[in-house]
Amino acid sequence: MKTITSVAALRQVVSLARTAGKRVGLVPTMGYLHDGHMALVEASRKQCDVTVVSIFVNPTQFGANEDLNTYPRDFPSDERLCRDAGVAIVFAPDNKEVYPEGFDTCVESGELAKPLCGGFRPGHFRGVATVVCKLFNMVQPDAAFFGQKDFQQCAVVRRMTRDLNLPVEVVTLPTVREPDGLAMSSRNRYLSEQDRRRAVTISRALFAAQDEFRSGTRDVQKLIAVAELHLQTVDRLQYLELVDSETLKPAESPLRRSSALCVAAYIGSTRLIDNVTMELIVS
Ligand code: PAF
Repeated sequence: MKTITSVAALRQVVSLARTAGKRVGLVPTMGYLHDGHMALVEASRKQCDVTVVSIFVNPTQFGANEDLNTYPRDFPSDERLCRDAGVAIVFAPDNKEVYPEGFDTCVESGELAKPLCGGFRPGHFRGVATVVCKLFNMVQPDAAFFGQKDFQQCAVVRRMTRDLNLPVEVVTLPTVREPDGLAMSSRNRYLSEQDRRRAVTISRALFAAQDEFRSGTRDVQKLIAVAELHLQTVDRLQYLELVDSETLKPAESPLRRSSALCVAAYIGSTRLIDNVTMELIVS
């Protein structure tokens, strides 16, 4: 496994692989890797010949009062996990490599970036779309792998890839959960022991609504109310919305299109997001 920090060196290695007819997979991450990331790596290893994992804590997707400086980092452990998982290249550029002096261009998503997290984290999806677009251009992968826990991010990245004709297949994989249901996230490490126990209420709420949906309920308010009941114990509910899976607009009642119930809530001072989908086959 090679650890590469410059775009020039990365291009050289990747272009050699591509010339040899190899399919290149990219797993974009901000590091502090957990089993959720490793499931993306495994999928890339299965579908591609060469897997690149990028590790870059992207400053432009953090708001002024967010956790950029305290975001968990453990590069030696990340490298070890990647090596053990058969990753070919870890791409770990520094800020200057990604945003050289004078950097002045952004990718601005439209409607998909406005609801849900977009309403509470202004500029977040501009930062995400910009860095993902740059990573696609730097690595030039055939496929890139994202986790569905970041449901809105997946929608924004898919749309951007289509809109900008980026020749990358965007693959999304189901959320990986702890045994009690908590969605895996690097930010889970912020939780105290007691908060960690309470955090399970978020996935419980979503699963309860999903069960209700599976038992035939299609009324949006009823489905939301089921989840709300469980969410009484979170410290602050930022949003709980049932949205159309493609447009992310509020789902119409009764549900006729596949939708996602998305939540952002604080447990203590830790902001967690999660979602479940409610699939409907449209004929
Ligand atoms: O999901 C993440 O870890 C980040 O948003 C991503 C896609 C690596 C862009 O910085």
